[in-house]
Amino acid sequence: MLSCPSWTESNAQVWLDFLHGAPKDELICSFKYPSKLTYLSNEAAMAVAYVTALRGIGSVSPNPLVGCVAISRDNLFLSHGAHLKNGESHAEVNCLTALENQEIQNAKVFVTLEPCAHHGRTPPCAEFLSKLPFEELHYLQRDPDSRVDGRGIELIKDAGKKVFLLDAMSELGAELAEIFLWNKREDSPFIGAKIAMTEAGAYAFAKSSRTWITGQRAREHGRFLRLYYDAILVGSSTAVLDDPMLDVRSSFVNGRIPWRIVLDPENVVPLTANIFKVSPERVIHFVTAKSSSPGPRVVTQDVRNEVQEDAHGDDGRSSHIIHLNMNSQGQFEWQDVIRAVKSFSIYSILLEGGNGVWSSAWQAGVINKLHLYVGQSRLVQDKLALLTDVPQKAKWNPEDKERHRFGIDRYFEIVNSAV
Ligand SMILES: NC(=O)c1ccc[n+]([C@@H]2O[C@H](COP(=O)([O-])OP(=O)(O)OC[C@H]3O[C@@H](n4cnc5c(N)ncnc54)[C@H](OP(=O)(O)O)[C@@H]3O)[C@@H](O)[C@H]2O)c1
Repeated sequence: MLSCPSWTESNAQVWLDFLHGAPKDELICSFKYPSKLTYLSNEAAMAVAYVTALRGIGSVSPNPLVGCVAISRDNLFLSHGAHLKNGESHAEVNCLTALENQEIQNAKVFVTLEPCAHHGRTPPCAEFLSKLPFEELHYLQRDPDSRVDGRGIELIKDAGKKVFLLDAMSELGAELAEIFLWNKREDSPFIGAKIAMTEAGAYAFAKSSRTWITGQRAREHGRFLRLYYDAILVGSSTAVLDDPMLDVRSSFVNGRIPWRIVLDPENVVPLTANIFKVSPERVIHFVTAKSSSPGPRVVTQDVRNEVQEDAHGDDGRSSHIIHLNMNSQGQFEWQDVIRAVKSFSIYSILLEGGNGVWSSAWQAGVINKLHLYVGQSRLVQDKLALLTDVPQKAKWNPEDKERHRFGIDRYFEIVNSAV
């Protein structure tokens, strides 16, 4: 059971420690929300907004996760709301529409991201908020979208509200909007890599002794991670040896099938592989360009013109085959892979292995974040392969980057500050 700080707690660091210490799947399932009219410090109100935002995991891409909480002028809890689904109402609306204007009179509103100021598929939240009689808006993160970028805040100030940036907790806002902020800044998909390894750095075992590196709880968390990403990518060896489904299997989001991507230059992954079995139309299969032999690739035009796309599958359901040229090292250029993937409106990719994929992506400098599980498996004598490049070169320091423990397994999140 999660041990939540007292609702009166106003030390931002206490809330940050609690929220960072609890795995997000546990926060979603086991967080006990305050009852109506419970006293909440400002920091507690923002912590509740953060946890509420997590309820959108897996459903809001390419939008960010956003949560909102309203409390009365004397800090009594009124309501909470999240952006739950792309294209549907935003957190502010979900939080505040259930309340009477009288309840919102002089209230304080806490939101994890600057309210939007533009007409998208929903009207601007800043206009919606400006018409309500609350008094203060507290937020964590400015929205860098060029249609917002401070305009949301200005609109609300112009309506006579006081606006505060809750600086001491701003890292929570940046974390919730991490993929969105990267997409806006770089116009490119965000790339994570999920790796399970032993203390000795082994990531795979001999086939005869095939076993899990981590325990069940860590693996469950690993599957939950897939919710964060639009697509899951593996190399041909992992696709053949492990034959993974790469599905989500989560109670949080019903029926969500992520995009699945396989790098398979030699086209060795059989069409009977599990990844082609479910929703093959959401599978991208990269193979070597038929017409070209390995060698230096000359970039003369947009990669979209260089790739040829065809499809396979039956019953009218086809996966996408992308033919790419190899570079002089006999590999696809990651920038080509990423550009092709982006053209499918995929905003984030989780690299699930194996070492061939992680290593080449790391060398190409395209990994934004490592999700590292370190298991205590003693089967080191059976190790087949040690990780190369990652995570040693990520300057991984087991002392200071540990995020959670799942039984005896440790989980680390390492942001690659070099990209
Ligand atoms: N511990 C974990 O978290 C974890 C996760 C997943 C898998 N695994 C294990 O890892 C093992 C497989 O790993 P692995 O390193 O041998 O293979 P891998 O990374 O799964 O696949 C390597 C192959 O993928 C293709 N590939 C990768 N990057 C490429 C690029 N940039 N351009 C073109 N092709 C690229 C190449 O195919 P070609 O050979 O056709 O050129 C390469 O040989 C399995 O035993 C699996 O069980 C462990």
